[in-house]
Amino acid sequence: LAADAEKAFAGAADADALEAARVEFLGAKAGRLKAVQKGMGKVDKADKPAAGQKLNAVKQQIEQAFEAATQRGASADAGESKDAFDVTLPGRRPRLGRLHPITQTIDRMKEIMGRLGFTAVEGPEIEDDWHNFEALNIPLSHPARDPLDNFYLSVASAAGAKRSDQGAGPDGKPLLLRSQTSTVQIRVMEQTAPPVRIVSLGRVYRPDTADATHYPMFHQIEGLLVDKGVTMADLKSVLRMFCQSYYGESEDLHVRFRPSFFPFTEPSVEVDINWQGGWMEIGGAGMVDPNVLRAVGYDPEEVTGFAFGMGVERIAMRQHNITDIRDLYTNDVRFLAQF
Ligand code: PHE
Repeated sequence: LAADAEKAFAGAADADALEAARVEFLGAKAGRLKAVQKGMGKVDKADKPAAGQKLNAVKQQIEQAFEAATQRGASADAGESKDAFDVTLPGRRPRLGRLHPITQTIDRMKEIMGRLGFTAVEGPEIEDDWHNFEALNIPLSHPARDPLDNFYLSVASAAGAKRSDQGAGPDGKPLLLRSQTSTVQIRVMEQTAPPVRIVSLGRVYRPDTADATHYPMFHQIEGLLVDKGVTMADLKSVLRMFCQSYYGESEDLHVRFRPSFFPFTEPSVEVDINWQGGWMEIGGAGMVDPNVLRAVGYDPEEVTGFAFGMGVERIAMRQHNITDIRDLYTNDVRFLAQF
């Protein structure tokens, strides 16, 4: 029996075979050693001590053989994994992060506008009534102020009668998440004398339900140039140069203006560019309204200016053939890693 067991243990090719052999010989219920043990009852009384000794010896022998086989298996495993480590294999590269496609677009736009002489500036995302509306010639009755179209910070205190300080601007009027980057025009003009030549890129917020083309937060690029004798022709050529650099078109790219209305520009236009055979709307623009120039202390008789605002997402989406704006903000790395 001991010899059989030794042979079985030695011949076990893997851990499963070894376990099967263990059950066969050493199994507590139906093992072959157990069967011999059970047979001990029939042995003559006189022979019992000798038989018992013999049984113990066999048991020990089998157990030792099993032990040896187990150790052999373990060291074989270790040897195997040592062999599996091929030092000549090239290392695995750590995955590098990359800039978000919108950040890449913004950097590129800043760079192009920088070459055209526009300095990039930033403004706060929480704005007061003056910068988001009043100074931009948007009167109190204007629908653009509708609470359904803006994220106002709540101001009513629980008591109702008294307005709490939180959420209200210096004028006591409610603060809001800016709905357009045109706010930055005001902030810059208030602080610098003409001429000004700036771009501002940043987030704006509108309570739109998210769908393929809307998201309650998106980015705008705003441009402003105020100087002596600035005209609509300057606006058009700056936009044309910008778009041509951005899309890297070799042939001439055309910019088209359609009459429109914005409270802070007069005249106002919607801007289209021809792109892959069709016209695509890229934003709004116009000549800065004299009321806006007056609001920041400029003299509209002395200087004129143009301003434009474009949606960053729309331009990036057209460029990369992204069809759903939500993909940009789901932050699935498999999607983002493509850019
Ligand atoms: N602020 C406008 C918008 O959000 C765009 C615009 C900017 C229009 C500057 C004219 C001049 O739609």
